[in-house]
Amino acid sequence: MARESWTGRIGFVLAAVGSAVGLGNIWRFPWMTAENGGSAFLVVYLGIVLAVGVPGLLAEFVLGRRSRKSPVGALRDLSGSRNWGRVGLVSVLAGLVLLSFYSVVGGWILRYLVASPTGAYFADPGGYFDAIAHGPGAAAFHVLFLGLTAGVVYGGVRAGIERATTVMMPVVVLVLAGMAMWASGLGGAADAYAFYLEFDVASVQENALDVALAAAGQALFTLSVGAGTMITYASYVGEDRSLPADATMIAVLNTAVGVLAGLVVLPLLFSTPGVDAATSGPGALFVGVATAFATLPAGELLAAGFFAVVALAALSSSISMLEIVVAYLVDERGFARDRATVGVAAVVLVTGTASAFSPQLFGLLAGPVVDVVLTTGLLAFVVFTAWVLGPDAVEEFARGTRFSAGLGDAWRTLLGVALPPFLVFTLFVGVSDAVGVTVASWQLALAAVAVAGVVVAGVVRARRPRPTA
Ligand code: PFF
Repeated sequence: MARESWTGRIGFVLAAVGSAVGLGNIWRFPWMTAENGGSAFLVVYLGIVLAVGVPGLLAEFVLGRRSRKSPVGALRDLSGSRNWGRVGLVSVLAGLVLLSFYSVVGGWILRYLVASPTGAYFADPGGYFDAIAHGPGAAAFHVLFLGLTAGVVYGGVRAGIERATTVMMPVVVLVLAGMAMWASGLGGAADAYAFYLEFDVASVQENALDVALAAAGQALFTLSVGAGTMITYASYVGEDRSLPADATMIAVLNTAVGVLAGLVVLPLLFSTPGVDAATSGPGALFVGVATAFATLPAGELLAAGFFAVVALAALSSSISMLEIVVAYLVDERGFARDRATVGVAAVVLVTGTASAFSPQLFGLLAGPVVDVVLTTGLLAFVVFTAWVLGPDAVEEFARGTRFSAGLGDAWRTLLGVALPPFLVFTLFVGVSDAVGVTVASWQLALAAVAVAGVVVAGVVRARRPRPTA
């Protein structure tokens, strides 16, 4: 059977934007910004998006389009080594880990959507969230969200994913823009903008490491980089489009939606007495925003609109997570798409139910585990692109673009030399935070450079053709 493909550029770009724009933008980004120094954080974050996110996204695009395979097949075929194929399995793990908590949050959103028209949570927003966050109800709504996700993926690349995302993305952007305009008329809007855009350099300087790490984690998660989603999506690109142009466009749209979401969420919070805009944690969006809607005229309607948009954004991301694993089964294991979709959904039904019941498991998956998996995945992809694919990667980068090959070479150097120590460093800090040991950052930095050096040297050595006897 011929491999599926997107109808054209718009389908690919919107599907990729759909993957990128999600809870990371609407739920995490406003608080990250507000908590980490306002627009000073924004500057650090944008720097990391440009220096790490976009180049990483491009690496995934190049691997996908060059191989026309999902991550396992891509790394194996492009290197001619089964071991690299095994490294690609990190993406299958990433897809399962991501879905196992994301689908639970997706379930919360559906629950709020259903409860909005009657204002069921208006009387006690905090108590409502605590009551529904974990347990049988959370599991049931997780299953519903997973079912919707699987329904789209079941339909295939064109009839399912492309058709859904080309409708969903414009709706998300338009409704958020409309709500941002409406929110500008709220009483707390001026305070919210001041807080959001406050350029708090001092706080960034004081906590430079924490802020940089928060920005790095946010940049990878929000761009869907490191999981192999973007390899998979690019493997369905039929024509020679400019991958650098597409990657840049996706990053710009993704950041714009994050900022837009901030312009909706923060004015809402600032207009509501008793809500602290800078609180965080999984419940923050739900409790804060729910409290705000409860106090507004026609709050039921507004809340329903808001949660509907969040649900669409979350769904267009979750389908990209499921697609990684489904594409692996289809490409590598000879499954038909429908059976693969049902099979993977059945697995996530179980793992997601576990995290719907256990706040500990949920916190672990949504926090340190996903950070480590995405960073490890991206590390593998950039080292592979720069050192194994090498000059062919630059050629693929330049295919269909007006960008010079010189830019491609600079990109390759960035991937091969600068990003590995950076990613190993964030990995180290993440792990040392998670296990609770404190090590001086210069020691971690030194170790990161050493480990990255060993990784790259090992890959380069393994690449050298063996002399034939
Ligand atoms: N980018 C998505 C968000 O911001 O919600 C999350 C995500 C989707 C991460 C797909 C990774 C991925 F492969």
